[in-house]
Amino acid sequence: MFPRIREDIRSVFERDPAARTAWEVLTCYPGLHAIWGQRLSHWLWTHGLKWLARLNSNLARWLTGIEIHPGAIIGRRFFIDHGMGVVIGETAEIGDDVTLYQGVTLGGVSWNKGKRHPTIRDKVVVGAGAKVLGPFEVGEGARIGSNAVVVKAVPAGATVVGIPARVVQEAHEPSEKVVAIAKSLGFDAYGLTRDMPDPVANAIGSMLEHIQVLDERLVQVCKLLHQMDSRMPELELSKLELPDFCGQTSIASSSAAPDPAQTGPKVRRAV
Ligand SMILES: CC(C)(COP(=O)(O)OP(=O)(O)OC[C@H]1O[C@@H](n2cnc3c(N)ncnc32)[C@H](O)[C@@H]1OP(=O)(O)O)[C@@H](O)C(=O)NCCC(=O)NCCS
Repeated sequence: MFPRIREDIRSVFERDPAARTAWEVLTCYPGLHAIWGQRLSHWLWTHGLKWLARLNSNLARWLTGIEIHPGAIIGRRFFIDHGMGVVIGETAEIGDDVTLYQGVTLGGVSWNKGKRHPTIRDKVVVGAGAKVLGPFEVGEGARIGSNAVVVKAVPAGATVVGIPARVVQEAHEPSEKVVAIAKSLGFDAYGLTRDMPDPVANAIGSMLEHIQVLDERLVQVCKLLHQMDSRMPELELSKLELPDFCGQTSIASSSAAPDPAQTGPKVRRAV
């Protein structure tokens, strides 16, 4: 129990610059008190003590202004900042490292029993006053703007705002191949974090992706030509040599035999 409480307190320090001491966090953060109350309620709920679970959750609501149904499934390091007015429904599921601000509702839009509340994946942030309504999924790392009303699934990494919520920023993840090439070049294809978009990094990432596609097409074309006429050489696997500033690393890449005339001063190919 104590390691979990320590973990909860640490997660507050990571996400609230106003937090000063562990004692202050322990005593003055209703979001934490509500989560601890919910852990007890959930245990009671899953052990058949449903009325006691509801009673405990109601007491926690009186004390904190946060209403979490005992049936909700909540992951680790969940943080509700400020908290007043938060409502989390019975069939809501919340992953790890999720942050909610005051006034958030994770609610349903139907009176049917069964799954009717959203599933919030890891590292999602839901802004103050946002309403997420329905049994859909909010993808990992998504961000929901304050006062948004979300009524359909949100892709991982996206930022959504407005009523009804619309995507204003989509996460663009490079393919595995491009990541591998970029790594061997000593370059971060993910272009730093989403909070610090780097246009140069993004441009290089797109070019690497484009080169990768062209290489694959070229290999296919040469294979076909070789099948039609065996005098045509098959494409050989060669290496992409790096410019001097990238050090000595080199990566395997498909390319025709090198043509010194076409090798530029920066990046060139060699067998
Ligand atoms: C949604 C959010 C995460 C976006 O942050 P961001 O990625 O930095 O995006 P930006 O601020 O560049 O905004 C992108 C666009 O969405 C708009 N926007 C941002 N937040 C919005 C919101 N809550 N409602 C409507 N539009 C919003 C911006 O005006 C901008 O529009 P534009 O491209 O036409 O200029 C952030 O605005 C937010 O709402 N965070 C919640 C914070 C919170 O609740 N804090 C409570 C502390 S007590």
